[in-house]
Amino acid sequence: MNNVSYTMEGKTALVTIDRPKALNALNPETLAELLQLFSELAENDELVGVILTGAGEKAFVAGADISAMQHYDALAGREFGKLGHRVMSVIEQFPKPVIAAVNGFALGGGCELALACDIRICSENAKFGQPEVNLGVIPGFGGTQRLPRLVGKGHGFELLFTGDMIDAQEACRIGLVNRVVALEQLLPECLGIMEKIAQKGPVAIALCKEVVRAGMEMDSDRACQYEADLFGVCFASDDQKEGMKAFLEKRVPQFTGK
Ligand code: CAA
Repeated sequence: MNNVSYTMEGKTALVTIDRPKALNALNPETLAELLQLFSELAENDELVGVILTGAGEKAFVAGADISAMQHYDALAGREFGKLGHRVMSVIEQFPKPVIAAVNGFALGGGCELALACDIRICSENAKFGQPEVNLGVIPGFGGTQRLPRLVGKGHGFELLFTGDMIDAQEACRIGLVNRVVALEQLLPECLGIMEKIAQKGPVAIALCKEVVRAGMEMDSDRACQYEADLFGVCFASDDQKEGMKAFLEKRVPQFTGK
């Protein structure tokens, strides 16, 4: 792959978008590489989760690639939007937790990429925004939907209408990120969260993600029914047997993810 790489940090995949000359902007090739990599990682049963970040100290992702889009016609724009949506979906539906380690600008498609992750942690220099209206377009990778769902309609509309950039503290205040840490602490902080997750029952973690993701698109009664169903499914797992047995025997559980 030319624009995306990954390393294994224990059982966590650290995925880095690496196009420094364009502040890691998402062109079709980068989106296709992300799609391929996440699809491959989804097959790795041993994996605890993924941390997604941008190369360098300036940008997470500065948006969809404006040079690539400049001469699109309507159909090309639609295809690009659909490709972006497939990437966001593969991350949102990834069977393990995905954390965005936002290390700088997260604008447009970059903010949308962070929004598709399960958890967002950012460094003090991070900046967020949906500046698409400055370019005469609307967000194309889910920003009009995931942003207001996360921060509420008022904050969502303000960011979408004004195209303003907000800093890390403001992003934290409105709930766009969970917390702000020093740049050098960003990866250790995200790895620390993954280490905690690694101690839990993998079946429960996967079902938790599934019910939150799918349940938030359902009405509350159906979502609670779905939760009850998946709660029941837990009792078909070795993890449930081991977790409850270990508690009663006052020892640390040895989960197998079965
Ligand atoms: N696409 C393509 N290239 C980009 C880019 C992008 N989104 N963002 C930055 N770059 C390029 C710049 O063109 C520049 O390239 P050159 O050195 O060849 O001129 C290089 O990255 C460095 O950028 P700047 O010189 O502009 O750096 P800066 O520090 O002065 O400013 C910035 C940083 C504020 C992030 C500024 O680059 C910027 O505003 N970028 C565009 C942000 C944006 O509008 N993003 C939304 C894109 S549209 C979108 O994402 C649609 C969607 O929802 C699908």
